[in-house]
Amino acid sequence: MWMQITAIDMNKDTYEMGLPVIKKAGVEHKINFIQSLALTVLDELLENHENRGSFDFAFVDADKVNYQKYHERLWQLLKVGGIIVYDNTLWFGTVAMPEESTKEELKPGRLHTIEFNRFLAADNRFQISQVPLGDGITICRRL
Ligand SMILES: C[S@@+](CC[C@H](N)C(=O)[O-])C[C@H]1O[C@@H](n2cnc3c(N)ncnc32)[C@H](O)[C@@H]1O
Repeated sequence: MWMQITAIDMNKDTYEMGLPVIKKAGVEHKINFIQSLALTVLDELLENHENRGSFDFAFVDADKVNYQKYHERLWQLLKVGGIIVYDNTLWFGTVAMPEESTKEELKPGRLHTIEFNRFLAADNRFQISQVPLGDGITICRRL
């Protein structure tokens, strides 16, 4: 079965950092890297109706402020039974800390992450699992 990865990052350096490993694994030809803002690309993908309901998996590790916007687009791109994984959903553990114990630089991300976690917990289009691994990942299966 043909598998292809669409990789989006506004900074090409991030992709190139991993490129030697990708080449060593012999999978470069499977990856379509697009240097852009993620929302722009997701909206373009949605314009082609063939893309809707066609993706098996999405991994999101970009700007936390937009996680909910990514979720609404990815929901439409994903197959039923497909998976989205969101990274950093514990935000250095601060989601479980009182605000006053949180370092100043982590406060905006903490609020966005708490709000996003609440939103996901109430989203009945998905079955979710919060995994306390690293900085926390949330696995969402489209129902
Ligand atoms: C924490 S890094 C993760 C990189 C990659 N997932 C990894 O694990 O190696 C976050 C990346 O998101 C990218 N990024 C941030 N905001 C973005 C946006 N709005 N659209 C596309 N990429 C974005 C940054 O350029 C950065 O490379």
